[in-house]
Amino acid sequence: MKQVQFTGTVNRKSLYIEIWYQWLLLYHQQIKAIPNQAKLKHFAMGSIQEQHSSAGGHQALLDAQLDLWHNTFAFIKSMALTTSVVKPLHPSKLPSLRRLMRVLTVPGIFSAAAANPAEDDGDRVVYGLTPASRLLIGSVHNLAPTLSLILHEMFVSPFLSLGTWLEHELPDLALFEVAHGKAVWDVILHDATISSLFNAGMVADSRFLMDIAIRECGHGISSLIDVAGGHGAAAQAIAEAFPHIECSVLDLQHVVDSAPADTGLKYIAGDMFESIPPANAVFLEWVMHDWRDSECITILKNCKKAIPTRDAGGKVIIVDAVVGAGCSTPKHRETQVLYDLFIMVANGIERDEQEWRNIILEAGFTHYNIIPVLGVRSIIEVYP
Ligand SMILES: C[S@@+](CC[C@H](N)C(=O)[O-])C[C@H]1O[C@@H](n2cnc3c(N)ncnc32)[C@H](O)[C@@H]1O
Repeated sequence: MKQVQFTGTVNRKSLYIEIWYQWLLLYHQQIKAIPNQAKLKHFAMGSIQEQHSSAGGHQALLDAQLDLWHNTFAFIKSMALTTSVVKPLHPSKLPSLRRLMRVLTVPGIFSAAAANPAEDDGDRVVYGLTPASRLLIGSVHNLAPTLSLILHEMFVSPFLSLGTWLEHELPDLALFEVAHGKAVWDVILHDATISSLFNAGMVADSRFLMDIAIRECGHGISSLIDVAGGHGAAAQAIAEAFPHIECSVLDLQHVVDSAPADTGLKYIAGDMFESIPPANAVFLEWVMHDWRDSECITILKNCKKAIPTRDAGGKVIIVDAVVGAGCSTPKHRETQVLYDLFIMVANGIERDEQEWRNIILEAGFTHYNIIPVLGVRSIIEVYP
């Protein structure tokens, strides 16, 4: 079994890595076999104590514990959020509601205010919607189906084996495959319930995002193919905003078979790794992050064959995360890297600009333009 070796000076930045590593050591009893485990433990704990005494004693220790607990309990917030989007509450569980809602009001998912004492006994709380929870209801901009997909047991359960998976030498199956015995696409292909959950999650996300992305997408294009476009919510939004653009959707046969009939789009069953039908522009939303570099290069080469020259208006429009692009607040950055770990479970990757540049140039394109206007995601225009 291969193990990470710690060398060099421990500083504040590496403190979390050390603590994480200590947990890993405690968690995996068999790691006792590592020859220098005791030395490493001693080294790490000594450094932690040094950090705390120099950082101001007890308060620094308590702050450090708070950081740890805050991150350790973070998964409970996700689970509480799941209940607000998918689970009905049994009346007998009403006493738990106050505690559940406290978890969701503190971070601002819902608001809470005391009920009017003149009308009530003063002990009641009125919960309200915030901009975040407004995105979980209604028919416009409703992201509940996307959250239900991300927080589905199928995606959450593989994370319980993350530590074990990291022990194995590559090449290894993706964590999702280790957990379920099949790749994501196979599960979707063979399970109608998961398939509709997946497509609903994609459609909800596309509808939300395209309202914002649309301004950047449609100019100077006469025809567009939404590659791996699912049920075509993105292409539909483009077609509605730019009626002169002839829009079509390419996806696998079983996805095309279940696509709605009333979108006005042309659906083409096919494999993007084989070929992509010709169009002025190729649109790839939430697709490239599912595939390894070599596979992305194949997709991009097929895109290049499908579009005309840059002078004739040819371009590829990618909607995906560019890690490090856009807003630099900790919440934004953390969401991008969490998103990357989420997709790693299914063998995917969220790329930084250098990683995008490598695959774009390797596929034979000459220019690209990153437009970070979609929150944690960006639009990447790629030109031949
Ligand atoms: C994450 S979804 C994105 C769907 C859509 N672009 C959206 O944003 O709503 C990925 C899509 O890739 C499709 N896909 C997977 N392998 C494919 C292939 N070889 N050729 C074409 N589409 C494929 C899946 O069926 C799925 O619809």
